[in-house]
Order: sequence, then structure tokens, then C-alpha cells
Amino acid sequence: MSFDETRISAKEAAKILKTIYNLEGEITLLNGEVDFNYEVLSANSEKYLLKISRPNFEQEYIDYQIDLLKHINKNSNIELPKIIYTNDNKKSSIFRDRYGKKRSVRLMSWIDGRLWSSVNPITETLRFELGQMSSQITKALENFKNSYADRKIEWDISRSLWIENHLDKFDTKKNKILKKFINDFKDNLKEYVKLEKSVIHNDINDNNIIVTKDLLNPRVKSIIDFGDSVYSHTINDLAITCSYGIMNLNDPLSGCLDIVRGYNKNRKIKDNELKLLYNLIAMRLAISVTKSAINRYNEPDNKYLFISEKSAWNLINKWDGINAEFAYYSFRKACSMDGHPNKKKFIRWAKKSNFSIKDLLPDINKSKLYNLDLSIGSKWLGSRREIEDLDFFQYKIENLQKKFPDQVISGGYLEPRPIYTSSSYEKDGNNGEESRTIHLGLDFWVPEGTRVGCIYDGEIVSAVNDEGNKEYGGLVIVKHKFQDYEFFSLYGHNKVSSVLKNKIGSKVRRGQIIAEVANYPENGNWATHLHFQIMHSMLDFKIDFPGVCYSNQKDVWEDICPDPNILLKNKTLSPKKKQTKKEIINYRKQHIGRSLKLHYENPLRIVRGDGVYLIDDQGRKYLDTVNNVAHVGHENEDVISEGRSQMSVLNTNSRYLHDSINHLTKELLGTVPKSLSVVHYVNSGSEANELAIRMMKAHTGNNDIVVAQHGYHGNTNVCVDISSYKFDGKGGNGAPKNTHVIRIPNKFNREHKGSKINDRYVNEIKNKINKIMKSKGGLGGFIIEPIISCGGQIELPRGFLKKAYNVIRKNGGICISDEVQVGCGRIGKSFWGFQAHNVIPDIITIGKPLGNGHPIGAVICTKEIAESFANGMEFFNTFGGNPVSCSIALEVIKTVKSKKLQENARTIGTYLKNELIKLSKEFKIIADVRGEGLFLGIEFLDSKKNPLSIEAKYIVNRLKDFGILSNVDGPFNNVIKIKPPMIFNKSNCQSFLKYLKIVLKEDFVSKSF
Ligand SMILES: Cc1ncc(COP(=O)(O)O)c(C=O)c1O
Repeated sequence: MSFDETRISAKEAAKILKTIYNLEGEITLLNGEVDFNYEVLSANSEKYLLKISRPNFEQEYIDYQIDLLKHINKNSNIELPKIIYTNDNKKSSIFRDRYGKKRSVRLMSWIDGRLWSSVNPITETLRFELGQMSSQITKALENFKNSYADRKIEWDISRSLWIENHLDKFDTKKNKILKKFINDFKDNLKEYVKLEKSVIHNDINDNNIIVTKDLLNPRVKSIIDFGDSVYSHTINDLAITCSYGIMNLNDPLSGCLDIVRGYNKNRKIKDNELKLLYNLIAMRLAISVTKSAINRYNEPDNKYLFISEKSAWNLINKWDGINAEFAYYSFRKACSMDGHPNKKKFIRWAKKSNFSIKDLLPDINKSKLYNLDLSIGSKWLGSRREIEDLDFFQYKIENLQKKFPDQVISGGYLEPRPIYTSSSYEKDGNNGEESRTIHLGLDFWVPEGTRVGCIYDGEIVSAVNDEGNKEYGGLVIVKHKFQDYEFFSLYGHNKVSSVLKNKIGSKVRRGQIIAEVANYPENGNWATHLHFQIMHSMLDFKIDFPGVCYSNQKDVWEDICPDPNILLKNKTLSPKKKQTKKEIINYRKQHIGRSLKLHYENPLRIVRGDGVYLIDDQGRKYLDTVNNVAHVGHENEDVISEGRSQMSVLNTNSRYLHDSINHLTKELLGTVPKSLSVVHYVNSGSEANELAIRMMKAHTGNNDIVVAQHGYHGNTNVCVDISSYKFDGKGGNGAPKNTHVIRIPNKFNREHKGSKINDRYVNEIKNKINKIMKSKGGLGGFIIEPIISCGGQIELPRGFLKKAYNVIRKNGGICISDEVQVGCGRIGKSFWGFQAHNVIPDIITIGKPLGNGHPIGAVICTKEIAESFANGMEFFNTFGGNPVSCSIALEVIKTVKSKKLQENARTIGTYLKNELIKLSKEFKIIADVRGEGLFLGIEFLDSKKNPLSIEAKYIVNRLKDFGILSNVDGPFNNVIKIKPPMIFNKSNCQSFLKYLKIVLKEDFVSKSF
């Protein structure tokens, strides 16, 4: 009988429902492999699940499922479907279909929620909860007995060897993978049959897991459909849960660990179960793809059967790439066991041993060790250029050695290092790109040619030139035995000739010379040192072994590669305890002003900047799309170098003659119209605006100023008084007497539309001026940004500034352009924001970008204003214009020019803006994409044009999870600002767009429109 012939339409189902349950309502056919399932929405808004069996069902099977549900309902507090009794008070009923075949009918209460398969994103928390839910089911079924459960079904992993007969249905590559899993299963059988058994659900797949409807904080609510449950090995349920719960992940093992952790909370998983888990997951997937292959012939019209086939194969391929032994150790660690079973035994043995550094480095007659900090934020390490300059690195090591002649420079076990954060060490994890940063060995920075002794008696298992891998150069690995266990020691970065003298399989004794330390490039291109590492296992590595690992796998690698210092027992080398994030936060809470906010719900501990990236203490790289202070790139080498050189020669105030202040002034004046010819230096944007207002008062004799709504100009008294963003915002007291706020002249404004838009806003200015004149009679001026940043990257309408400046000047005021955010080439089409509006201000204020992170600001004004300001009162600024600041700023401007960064802002900014506009067609919540160059804004509104601030915050937080830093702003906090370092390139844009798109598809965002 074909699938179509057995199908019962929704209309027929409605009739059946009425007859058997006296219920009427809307009926929708759902997916289902065995039964036909229908969602029923009754007239009184109650929901039910109607199940109609296929023909030739077994009543015993129906009763079994009903019993099972009852048992779990009694033995757990999981919300599960409850059986609805028929008109004649039965748990199920029978009817005959149009072919006269008997069909069973059951009705159950509906579990409200969403299917796991429809939930996006599946987070770590959800996977953890899924694990917990799965084990709750295991627990609830512990004592369930029913002879029907002993049935044989193909989905039972314990009986999975039937798939062997179908291997011919797969191509060679697939066949080979499946065969490998099948052979491993056979090899494990002896152990497997000994594992605990119970009745299990046996089908915790993504269409049987119910998640709550809460889109922001979803929870796993229930597991449904016990139709496949059997008496089998208990651990199978976890294997099945995992095999579906990790579908479509870049890093399935990591996803699996979330589930295992959750499962272990309610039911402690035994070591012998964990040992087989990797293979059992593989076997469930193998059953699934075999079933799909078979079903293709039998029921080609039943699409439900093929849904997961592609994903399953993707997962099988990835799973095949994971080492089974490593997975086992990872599972152990996830269950709070030692990752490697020998961990404690090794520590006990090593602690009792009498090894010392002399065994390893017999030429080095020193017992003291100097622990060198090469961690991500190490100041000794310096910038990336310094790290990558091997000659310089070597020179620094040798200098350090001279300073501490009686100590061996060493260290680095479990140290997160920036050395490995380059893209060649990266992979796509479940949350964006991940880098291998954690160093697993101990380094000894000893001279070239230093002889290396074997730490303990053993047998050479590898002696190779590892240059091809660029990891170690000359590498030796020795296998050792202690009591009845084995471990391995690894010696890397040696002379190839010295290493190749060792014969594979030959015995070596403790202290026997097995290598000589090499210089670069022979040693794999590192400064001269020995890398010494201990491993409990070689996993499936044959001739080499990783010396670094991903930080999210640190805990398990730590147990596979124990601290080599356990053998050497030198206290200096114990990894230093650093303050935890929690401790830092707590201290800040107590002693740093509360109004100083931290970014993100879970704040980041950033310890290094590198171009477009900020890097946290574990080496996680975050693409910075928001920091316009690091104008020419975080820790730009040339800028650092200028600042450092000047700092080592002179830094004093500007009352002495020094070239730097003049050079910078000349450079700055070269970028502005001739009328702006006098510069004053300060230390921040706020100070620049503060000074500009003083100048305004000095020049016009008036205090009254016109400002834009939502404008921000700084944190000092006067700056707050002219910043609507502050005085109209939280904690503010509204506009002070002398400040006159005009509504924001907004190209995207919903109030003022049409060609008269400029006149309307200029009229607002006129009205304000009239008011000023009426009350006191004197206008000081007008301050505005060329694109209003805190207002949400608001572009001023073309022509507005020209008209506004005219009105202000006609009434005796001066015009100040706040270029703190947009200056120095950021908007691409011009060096300063005002130039894009074809106006010339009387004063421009500069801050953020000028120092690339170093505090410097500047005020450029007309000769006339400068003269009015110089009324006899000296302007002294202790730090403003000092040689270090000026050298730095000069280098910043030069870099913008020499690296053509203004042009880059224009081309890359245009590319990004266009891509975002394209995205806005697909994702309706993007109501506007605006801005110029690398100063863009994305505004989020719902279908009724309400601001979506929670959604914008969600997007920013989720982007952070994927390694992208962004921020929201605007009066409703619904605009994502994009203002990255000006070296941002196309590939950076693509990363940002890729993850933005992923997040825009997530339920909380996609369902908000
Ligand atoms: C437009 C504008 N002006 C002035 C300032 C104040 O600059 P600073 O924080 O360097 O004092 C800011 C700071 O965000 C700003 O955005």
C-alpha cells in the first residue's frame, strides 16, 4: 500500500474526531513517520494531538505507549501529553478506513510550544537543558516494566548491525565511513552489552523536542512521541539526543558536550558508557542515513523521511573527523571527571620522582627559572610587529638573559598567547571564528645548540623534521612507562640533524641526549627555544602532536597534556593566578563610579588591540566595528613607535619651542580652509568643545547657543549643558536657560518630509534666535555635528547647514562644527564632515581619532576668534600640545594620508552601505541604512514604525557572541552604529554581514516585524 493510500486527510480526521470524541475544530496534518498526526484546535480554543495509526497496527503497541505516558506523568514533573478518553470512556478507539482497514485513534492534550527543529538559535543553554530533559526521561522510566518494550526495532542502536547489509547503497566514500563506525561498534560490543539497560524513549529527535514559545529566553519544555521506545541500553537515549541536538553545528563535539553536561546533572553517566558514546552517536546517524537510503525506494513520496538526511551526512562527515579517544576524554571532562583517566596516577608518580631541569638541559648549570610572560596582554611581548620580528624577539630574550644570568628563561604552560591568533590558527566554531591560543608545553629560551636530554627512560616514537607543519622544526617524541601506564614526552624546535640521529623504536635512557636546540628558521620559525610537553596519549597523531589548543577545549587538553613542571617541580613556573572576571567586576562595582557603564551583559576582558581586532585574555579575537578612536587601527605600529620614541626623549608642556607642535599644526591646517588658521591643543573632545564655547563667549560676548536635539558634545559642565543627549536623557534636568534646542534635522525624519525640510528646520533656528533676542538680545552661536552620532548616525539634509550658518551669522553668532566623531577622513568623501556640506565653520573641534587612542584634542578657529580669545588671560593646558601627543597625532594624520584611509572609508563604506541596503530588502526590520563612509547607522523599526530597541540590543549582544563588536545608540537605542578603524576592509565587512544575517534570522529578531 502506498503512502498516499494510507494517508487520512484533515477532513476525514475531523469526521473521526467528531464521531469518537464528539469534538469539532480546526485540523492540521503534521509530520510523523509511523502515525498520522493532527493538530486539533477545538471550538473552545483547547488544543489536542490526534493520532491515527497506519493499517495493521498492534493494539498492544497502542496500549504500551499509553501506559508509558502514564508512568512518566506519574514519575516526573515533565509536562507531557495526557490521554483524552473517548465518548465511551476508552483510552483509544478503532475505526475502519476507506479500504476497510482497521485504524487506531488516540487523542492527547497538546503541549504548547515550538518544535526544536523550528527554533533559532539553538544556544548552549538550550542544548544543556535538552541534556537535562533527556536524563529526566531516563530517570522517570527507570522502573518502567512492560514486556512489549522488548520488541525489535531498526532504530534501536543496540540492534544496529542490520545496516551492514545495506552498505552497497552508498558511494565508496560514505561506505568507508559507515564501515569504520560499524567495525568500531563490533569491536566495542563486548563492553557495550555489559552496559545498564532500561526502557528508553529512543527517538529524542528535533521534531520530538518541545521548546517554550519565549523567543528571548527559550527553555526546553517537553519531549513527545514515545512511539519508538524500547528496552535497550540506557545510554542510547543520550546518544540519540546528541545525534539530533548537534545537527548543523560547525563544531559538533562542543555542542555535544553541552548536552552531555546537562544529561549528567540528573543521571551520572558512567565511564564505560562515555567510552562508547562517540561510536553510539555515529551508529544512530548511520541508522538514520541507511533508513533514508532504503526509504527512497519504498516511499519516494514521503518527504518527511528525507528531511534530516543531508544534515545527517554533514554531521557524519564532521564526526568522522573527530578523534574518538579525544571525544571520550572530552565527555569525561564534561561530566566533571579527569579528562584523562591516568591524570591523578601520573601526578602521584611524578610528584614522588626526582627529575630536575638538569635531566632535560644538562648544559644549563642553573636551577632557578625565570617565568617569562608571553600571554595575550604581555607588555614584554609588545606589539604584533615586535612579536613577528624574530631578530628583535631573540635580541630581547638575550637581553633578558643578561639581566638574569643565573636563571633559565622559561614558562608558558596553558598560557593563552597572541602568537597564535593569526588566521592560520583559526577555525569556524559554533560561535564564530576561534583561534588556537593555549600553549600546552613548557618553553625554555636557551641558546642555539643547547643539548636536550630525555626526561626519563623510554622508547623513541617519533624523530622528524616537522618543518612542513611549521610547528616544531626538529621534533622528538618518546614513549615512557611508569608502573603499568604510559606517557609521552615531546621535544620541539630542535636541529633537524640532531633529531634524525634517533632511531624510531630505539630505547633511550633518562638524561640521554636526543636533540640540540635550533635557531630559526630551522626550528619552525621561532626564536630559539626548546618546547617540552608531556602527553598521556598520542590520540591518533603519529609523528607530531599539537602544541597549542583552542581555548574552549583548554580543560580537556590540560588533562591530556599535564603540566611538565609537575616533573621539574619549580614553583616559579606554576601558572600564575589571575584575577577572575567576577573579581574585577566586583572591585569595579565597589570602587569605580557606578555611572561608568560596562559594555555587554557579560563584559569582555580585552587585553590587546591589533588592527581591526580587540583580543580578550584567552585570545578570542573580536572584530571591532564601532571604535572610531582607533582611527588607523588598534595599536598601529607606526603611531606607537612615534609616541614611544618621543616619550623616551622628551615630554613636557608646550611652553618650550619644539618642532612637533608646529609640524602637527601645519599638517592639520593643510586639511582645512585658509580662514581656519589658528590651533589650540587640548586633551579630549570635551576639552575641545569646552574651549570652543569659551571662545564663542569671548568673541561674541554672548552665552546663548543653539544646539541640536540628541546632540552630544562632551562630559564637562559646559559640554553637558549644550548636550541634549545628556540633559534631555536619563538623569538630566532639561535644557539650561542659555541652551536652545532645535529638533533634529533628519533626512529620515518622520515629522518633516518633502523639499521644504531645510526651511522648516532653519525656521526652528530663527524662532530660537527670536526668543533669545526678545529675552536678552545676544546670540553666541550654533554647535552641531555634520552627522549626529549619538542621535543615531543622523545625516543632515543637503543644504541645511548652509542655510543654518547664514541665519546664525546674520544674527551675530558663530558656527562650531563638532568633528570629534566624524573627522580625519572618516566620512570618505571629505577629510572633515563640514566639507561635505559646503560650509566653512568658524571653529572646528577635534578629538577621538587624532591620537588613535592617545588623549589629544584640538580646536581650530579663525584668526579673529583667536584674537578675541587672547584677551590677556593666559590659556595654559598642562598636557595639551606636548611633544608626545603631537608626534602621535602627526603620525595619525600622515597614516591616514599615506595609507589612503579616507579613500578606503569611501570605497569600503559605500560597499558596506550598499550591502546593508540589500539586507534591508530581505529583513524588513531594517528601516534605514544611513551615513557616509565608515560612519554608518542601521535603524530597526517594527511594521508600525515603532523603534525596536530590545531587538537592537539583542543583535549587538548576539554579534558579540560571534566575535563582532558593535553598539547601539539613538534616542530610542534602536540604531546600530558602524564606525570601525579606518583600515576596515572588504573581508571584515563580509564577516560582519555574515553574522549580522545569521542574527537577523534568529527568532527573536525575525518575528519582531
Ligand atoms: C560628538 C562628540 N563630541 C565630543 C565628545 C567628547 O569627547 P571626549 O569623550 O573625548 O571628551 C564626544 C564623545 O563621545 C562626541 O561624540
